Amino acid sequence: MKIGLIPENPLEAAALALGRVPVPLGETLPPLLLTRALMAAARFGVIEALVDAPRPAGEIAARCGLHPAATRTLLDTLVGCGYLAFDEERYGLTPRARTWLAPGSPLSLHDSLLYRYQEWEWIGRLDDYLQTGAPLAIHREMTADQWALYQRGMLAVARLAAAELARRAPVPRGARDLLDVGGAHGFHAAALCRRHPALRAVVLDLPEALATAAPLLAAQGMGDRVVHQAGDARTADFGRERYDVILVAQLVHHFDEPTNQDLVGRLAEALRPGGVLALLELVRPRTPGEGGQIGGLLDLYFALTSASGAWTFEQMADWMRAAGLRPRKPLRLRTAPGAGLQAAVKSGRRG
Ligand SMILES: C[S@@+](CC[C@H](N)C(=O)[O-])C[C@H]1O[C@@H](n2cnc3c(N)ncnc32)[C@H](O)[C@@H]1O
Repeated sequence: MKIGLIPENPLEAAALALGRVPVPLGETLPPLLLTRALMAAARFGVIEALVDAPRPAGEIAARCGLHPAATRTLLDTLVGCGYLAFDEERYGLTPRARTWLAPGSPLSLHDSLLYRYQEWEWIGRLDDYLQTGAPLAIHREMTADQWALYQRGMLAVARLAAAELARRAPVPRGARDLLDVGGAHGFHAAALCRRHPALRAVVLDLPEALATAAPLLAAQGMGDRVVHQAGDARTADFGRERYDVILVAQLVHHFDEPTNQDLVGRLAEALRPGGVLALLELVRPRTPGEGGQIGGLLDLYFALTSASGAWTFEQMADWMRAAGLRPRKPLRLRTAPGAGLQAAVKSGRRG
């Protein structure tokens, strides 16, 4: 999958093939505007206002507390971009908006779009990063409101791939105890517990994260089968032979290599014999270009917003081998392009 200019007629296709289309222009200004238009539509409740029925522009503006003429321009833009339909002076949601943007949809990215405001500000600091090489310390600098936005944004994305993770993660037969490190909202842990009825889970995250993640976990109705535990993965004592499955999803890109080696070593100790450690990450391409356009862009995002950036499957497998685990063949997730699962098994007979 990639983003870019898609010709709409043979003449445009020929111009593109001949290198006559000003691609950098098309790949910069329109995407900036589309991004902000979608962010604003989420923030001001434009999509929400259309969930139950199509409405005229004036009514949408009044419901959202926006200026009528400016709102009409936004609505027309969203029609042009395929998110709204226009019929008999009313604007309505297209199937794409209903599935991916309507706040109540099970696949809704509404909260993720609100989180884009935070990312917009971070990405605005790319030039500083390029000059200094110093990444942002996002976990140290977020306010309580930003933590809440972050947690909800993560949950919106986790929902997309949690079912596939629960289906494909190599959970050992008879597994009882799951640890989800950096698990925040607990959606991954809950999905695994639903799939494996004998499993219960501890979701460990920073105290600042849990303050805002607690209601998100409670809303999943897992009761005491999935519980939060405050802790710092870099220093936590995970104990010995306590867990059958340990999941670490989207966390190791925040840490440098020695920290990850140490973390994987302590997690290996915390696994029971026959237990499984699974790292779920947006995987770094092995060579420039291997991950394609989106892989490259995400690599830049992680380099900017975390201590280390993304890791390759091979690097994750090396940490596991050094910790005495047996890495399994890595899996690419179909429902989360760019993301993959590197799992490893602890040797020994299960009790
Ligand atoms: C990118 S989010 C991923 C959340 C969740 N695992 C998911 O995949 O949706 C990273 C999570 O790691 C947590 N985190 C960051 N540093 C941590 C640390 N030192 N110890 C424990 N959790 C940490 C953050 O609070 C955040 O909830």
